[in-house]
Amino acid sequence: MTPWTASRIRAAKDRQKLACLTAYDYSTARLVDEAGIELILVGDSLAMTMLGYRNTLPVTVDEMLHHTKAVTRGVRNALVVADLPFLSYEVSSAQAVATAGRFIKEGGAGAVKIEGGTFRAPVVRALLDNGIPVLGHIGLTPQSINKTGGYRVQGKGAADAARLVRDAKALEKAGVFALVIECVPAALGGRITRAVKIPTIGIGAGPKCDGQILVVHDLLGLYSGVSPRFVKRYAALGSTMKKAFETYRREVQEGAFPAAEHSY
Ligand code: KIV
Repeated sequence: MTPWTASRIRAAKDRQKLACLTAYDYSTARLVDEAGIELILVGDSLAMTMLGYRNTLPVTVDEMLHHTKAVTRGVRNALVVADLPFLSYEVSSAQAVATAGRFIKEGGAGAVKIEGGTFRAPVVRALLDNGIPVLGHIGLTPQSINKTGGYRVQGKGAADAARLVRDAKALEKAGVFALVIECVPAALGGRITRAVKIPTIGIGAGPKCDGQILVVHDLLGLYSGVSPRFVKRYAALGSTMKKAFETYRREVQEGAFPAAEHSY
């Protein structure tokens, strides 16, 4: 199989739908990759799903790097994209290049993702000038929740929708290879998708996007926190795991485990 690169993802527009997922550890990344998923995001959502923080803001570059390294060790074909965490790229282009460089050099990622619209164009250009492909992210941007006031559908009004279309075009012009659109009305997801020549990857942005992304814990039914409307659970691993733990505990208490076949 030919490995997925940022330029191959960009060229997939109008050719195939892209199925993308997050992953945060070696074993899961390996399975996701073996399933043929084209793009794996080491999302800063790991702050919540893996580390138990209440939102994505506290996660550090070192914590994200630790997980990025684990993921890239498990992946052969998918493009691994590392999310740059809150305040690790916003201060200056130099800061963004230095942080992103660590994810490429030390983490083994093939690209980075940053949140924000038109105002992020200079950062995108600086990263590209230094050979680092960038995935954009507009709509609901969880790193800005303190400014925007929470996890709400974006782009509902005409002015807001028009601004998001402008943001998408500005990021495309700056050079992002694809664009995550989070939590906007389905019609707007389609409108942005038609307005740009790069693939759009929706999460709560409707079926007209060029691809979709989900948080792997949501898809597997592993995360017990709030589940947004856009999540589809494809498995209920949380309850399967809990049952397995309870059965193991009971068997240990009753002396049923280990049995003869588990003993030397
Ligand atoms: O951190 C993350 O998992 C993300 C996806 C929701 C796109 O940014």
